[in-house]
Amino acid sequence: MATGIIQAEGLGKTYSVGFWGRKVHALRSLTLEVRQGEIFGLVGPNGAGKSTAIKLLLGLIRPSRGTGSIDGQPMGAPESRRRLGFLPENPVLYEFLTAAEYLSLSGSLLGLSGKVIRARARELLDLVGLAHAVDLGIRKFSKGMVQRLGLAQALMGDPAVVILDEPMSGLDPIGRKDVRDVMFRLRDEGRTVFFSTHILPDVEAICDRVALLSKGSLTDIGRLDDLLSDRVRAVEVTVSGLSAEQRDRVQKERSARAQGDRVIATFPSQEAADGFLGEVVALKARVEAVTASRENLEELFMRRAAEAKEARK
Ligand SMILES: Nc1ncnc2c1ncn2[C@@H]1O[C@H](COP(=O)(O)OP(=O)(O)OP(=O)(O)O)[C@@H](O)[C@H]1O
Ligand SMILES: [Mg+2]
Repeated sequence: MATGIIQAEGLGKTYSVGFWGRKVHALRSLTLEVRQGEIFGLVGPNGAGKSTAIKLLLGLIRPSRGTGSIDGQPMGAPESRRRLGFLPENPVLYEFLTAAEYLSLSGSLLGLSGKVIRARARELLDLVGLAHAVDLGIRKFSKGMVQRLGLAQALMGDPAVVILDEPMSGLDPIGRKDVRDVMFRLRDEGRTVFFSTHILPDVEAICDRVALLSKGSLTDIGRLDDLLSDRVRAVEVTVSGLSAEQRDRVQKERSARAQGDRVIATFPSQEAADGFLGEVVALKARVEAVTASRENLEELFMRRAAEAKEARK
């Protein structure tokens, strides 16, 4: 029984390239379920198979194996696209139109009335921060503006499911923040947002759940907190109140770094830090902070990439 609003089951795509028909496994096997009302990130390095997975789910290419569905309809079926909004990777928009004309065209293709189109276009241009560019020709748009207009277009049909392929690509930090806010708003309105990216801070900031792809295979899926190893990777101890001489000694013996009149020493475990803490107390110096750091997404990402490289040897 399908419960996810987006489902993929063993979904894969293999291309035959060149004269000899060399096989390229763009996507090996993807099984996932996106729940209604969540922001779900499909994360992986260049060439991992993110766009392939998205194109398969949208029915833009045919799968070599597996199945998928959107909103209970088989992927690719016209009904599966009725409540779907899509922003492609590097959108190419009709250059000779203005922003308003472009949204008006999208709206008529969706079968919306002129009145709805005008109201929605104004609202969406405002939402994506293009209110000032309503009547500007798209050929005069910057890359970030094109990306924003593409996002507005994806929302014209008032979709229940929004699929975005690299929505932050080409955006500066302010633009990325704006797009994040739009994604939060879509979720607050009860829509489901499924997007691909390799910009890890964005993933950490906004995703309810993520799937990690590496070389066409799913390596991890779940809430970020659950995926990242709980193992403490380092314990940092910050100390103040040492004399200059004591500071020098600690720096040398503990390969610590100085920050003003503080010293920060890093240890591989809490046990390793304990000895130093005892020493600090004996010196009557002050422990300012003890922080344990856990694995972050970037480290998990690198760990998986290294494993994929190792497996190919
Ligand atoms: N039409 C095609 N013919 C042959 N190989 C293809 C085709 N489309 C994609 N590939 C290959 O499949 C792999 C996955 O491509 P895909 O575009 O899905 O990656 P991606 O994760 O979206 O990468 P990026 O972050 O660069 O957008 C790549 O090795 C790519 O070269
Ligand atoms: Mg891609």
